[in-house]
Parts: sequence; structure tokens; C-alpha cells
Amino acid sequence: MTTVVWATCAELPDGDPDDHLALPAMAEVGLDVRYQVWDDPSADWSAPTVVRSTWDYATRREEFLAWSGTVPTLWNPADVLAWSTDKTYLDELAAAGLPVAPSTTVRPGEQDRLDDVVAAALAESATVVVKPTVSAGSKDTRRHGDPRAATDHAADLLRAGRPVLVQPYLEAVDTDGETGLVVVDGVVSHVFRKGQLLHAEAEATPGLYAVEDIRAREATPAQRRLAADVTAWLAARFPAHAPLLYARVDTVPGPDGEPVLLELELTEPSLWFVADDSGASTRAWARALAQRVRTLPA
Ligand SMILES: Nc1ncnc2c1ncn2[C@@H]1O[C@H](COP(=O)(O)OP(=O)(O)O)[C@@H](O)[C@H]1O
Ligand SMILES: [Mg+2]
Repeated sequence: MTTVVWATCAELPDGDPDDHLALPAMAEVGLDVRYQVWDDPSADWSAPTVVRSTWDYATRREEFLAWSGTVPTLWNPADVLAWSTDKTYLDELAAAGLPVAPSTTVRPGEQDRLDDVVAAALAESATVVVKPTVSAGSKDTRRHGDPRAATDHAADLLRAGRPVLVQPYLEAVDTDGETGLVVVDGVVSHVFRKGQLLHAEAEATPGLYAVEDIRAREATPAQRRLAADVTAWLAARFPAHAPLLYARVDTVPGPDGEPVLLELELTEPSLWFVADDSGASTRAWARALAQRVRTLPA
């Protein structure tokens, strides 16, 4: 057996239950998975490491990225993590012509822009979403119909030094949900549906992450095309790392009903093996990881 380390957070020292579904497949390909907490100062990172359930980094991103730079073999690699832990990457994909959720970034010091930015988003939808650019698990992300509540929420985040994204709420998520395409080594492994998470004027989620309603789903041809386009774009953006071991392409129907990218999860996505009864996705994931471990330079 070869040891691989899956990095997790102190609140989940034994990892994410969904990831446990892949452990039998890992054992079959000769991989012994050991969980370690990313910010445990006594942990040894000499074994090949996969970032998994490190869901507490959002308010400590610099520390998290500094840690990632010290791990000799890490998937996804540190420069990919640095890029993907700040949701302003959406601007880069939009500039490349890919369909992304309409978003405006407001940075600390730009509070004066908030009224206009919120009003512009409210012109496109009855409610707006305010989220920190560095966020995970829906934490600190909220939906508002009242412009004052939206600007207050955004101003609180800016005061705490956190840039924010303001987006029109994409209402089709209420009926169609979110469609996540899990891409392993550049190929779609499986697809899941996530129910909508944000209720207007609800409080921010108190825990480590919001509880999610996950089901199996078939992707539409348009969703598959978007995942393929994003995967090809990523290969050009990070040629030294292509194909990435894992990527999760989260899509929702945009204003015209065509899928848009809501999030490109390259850091610590839940892979939602629970949405694939066949078990094929856990075997593909195990094969992909085993292949990488086998071909590491000695
Ligand atoms: N613009 C939006 N329109 C509709 N729903 C949204 C929008 N932005 C976020 N959401 C909802 O909030 C959830 C969390 O937002 P997301 O951008 O995926 O960040 P993260 O998963 O990193 O917290 C999504 O799964 C979705 O349900
Ligand atoms: Mg998300």
C-alpha cells in the first residue's frame, strides 16, 4: 500500500463522509488514505497530498496558501489554489468569452459604489446575492430584496477587509437547482443536482457549511459543452498542471435560460459520490490518483 494524505480541517479530523465512499476504491488500487488537518503544526506532509475538506480557510486564506506552498506534492497545486480561492476569477473567464454568472466586485475602500452596484443588480432580478470573494460552503453569502439590507451586508464585509461580489439572484435555481459536473483528469466523471440554498433575507449559515440537498442528475448537452469549454480554458491557463486531477464546474441557468458558470471549484470541492449509485466515479477517482502517485519522480 502507498500512503496518500487527504487534507481536512480541525472540525472534521476524519474528513467528509461523502469522501469516505471512495475509500474502498482507493484500497483496491493500493492507496492507503490518511487524513491530516491542514493547519496542524505537527503534521508531516511528505506523502502525496490531496486537498479535500479544508473548509475553514475562508477567513485565513493567506495562511492556507502559505501552507499549500510548503507541501511538496499537492493536488491541486498551490498556484491553482491561489487562483481559485478568490471568486474574482469569474472576471477572467468572462473576459475569455465564457458564460459566467453576472458579478460585480467591490473592494474595501470602494464603499461609495455599493448603492449603484446593488441598484444595477436589482434592475436584473428581484433579489441580489452578496458574497465575500473568498468564501466556501455558502458562509457569509446572503440574498436580499431590500437594497439597504444588501448594502449593509456588503459594507460589513468590506469593513472586515473582505472584498465582495454582488450578483443578481439567478431565479431559475429555485426550480432547476444547480448542476455540478465533476471533472477528473479532464473528463466528466459524474453530475449532481444541488437544491437552491439562499432564502431571501435569511440569516447567514452558522456552521462550517450550509446543509445541501444533493441528487443524481443527467447534464444537458449545453451544460456538458460549458464544462468542456471551461476544462479546455483551464488547460490553457495552467498548462503545467493540465489536466487537473479534479475540477468541479457548477452551473445554473442564466438570465436567458442557458447555463452559466456560478463557481469553478478547484480547491476543496465536495465530489458528491453519493449522486452516483454505479460506483464508477469512485473507481475513476481512485485510478486517477493512483496513476499520479505511480508516476511521481522518485
Ligand atoms: N447569483 C446567484 N444566483 C442564485 N443563487 C446563488 C447565486 N450565488 C450563489 N447562489 C447560491 O448560493 C450558493 C453558494 O454560492 P457559491 O457561489 O456556490 O459559493 P460557495 O459554494 O463557495 O459558498 C450556491 O450554491 C447557490 O445556491
Ligand atoms: Mg458553491
